[in-house]
Amino acid sequence: MRNLNQDTITQAVIARFAQTPDPRLKEIMTSLVQHLHAFAREVKLTEAEWMAGIQFLTATGQKCDDKRQEFILLSDTLGLSMLTVAMNNDKPAGCTEATVFGPFHVEGAPHYEHGDDVANGASGEPCLVRGRVLGADGKPVANAEVEVWQADADGNYDVQYEGLEHHRARGILHSGADGRFHFKTIVAEAYPIPVDGPVGDMLRATNRHPWRPAHLHFMIKAPGYETLITHVFRDGDPYLDSDAVFGVRQSLVADWVKQADGSYMLDFDFVLNPAHVAAK
Ligand code: BEZ
Ligand code: FE
Repeated sequence: MRNLNQDTITQAVIARFAQTPDPRLKEIMTSLVQHLHAFAREVKLTEAEWMAGIQFLTATGQKCDDKRQEFILLSDTLGLSMLTVAMNNDKPAGCTEATVFGPFHVEGAPHYEHGDDVANGASGEPCLVRGRVLGADGKPVANAEVEVWQADADGNYDVQYEGLEHHRARGILHSGADGRFHFKTIVAEAYPIPVDGPVGDMLRATNRHPWRPAHLHFMIKAPGYETLITHVFRDGDPYLDSDAVFGVRQSLVADWVKQADGSYMLDFDFVLNPAHVAAK
């Protein structure tokens, strides 16, 4: 195959994937080539711009290590993470909605008992979080694994600090027989996503802000139910309508209620979707 030109090269590349044994991989590669080429044609991509794009992706990869995932950040800020979450988590009405996972979940969070302080030294105003894990029928889900993680008052997750010996502001609890759980922590505050890498360069070049509205992350697992990955967002936050990663859903916005002693209380119930039940 010679003398390919701008009118014939797309089909030639697609044909090169014709023998892909895995039909799903073939579908994805074919569509990827089609859309990449269409994009280049639509914007009339110059060679200098293409090279700038290669350099940007190279820098994105070079920024990644075991604690920093710049590609997730890129996917998040381009809305691709939330699009994928939305397409794959169309749950029945009444179930708690999902949102982005984010790059700051880590394996091996400490286990806590009800009432423990998961902040574990993280800075912030004191807060009690309590809630229930329920099935769509309203019945309690006992012994569900409830994992929570959040940023501190300075807007940092524990993994963003060098040399911390203990996990802070993250932990795992289990719901009781009545589906209930409660723990102490710190109040969620708005924070900017990391901007010291290529994604930050992209945000500045496009005049976008990096802020996420205040939120707690939750991942809830129970046998017989789909794993729920979500946030609870703090009502009144100025960034609820302009989240840098497009993750806000109104059903996930809740009130952090100030108590007489100055501490805060968040009450939030999670409703799990039974595994393998299609959305209506
Ligand atoms: C987060 O909420 O932890 C997060 C999500 C997406 C990008 C950066 C941070
Ligand atoms: Fe977060």
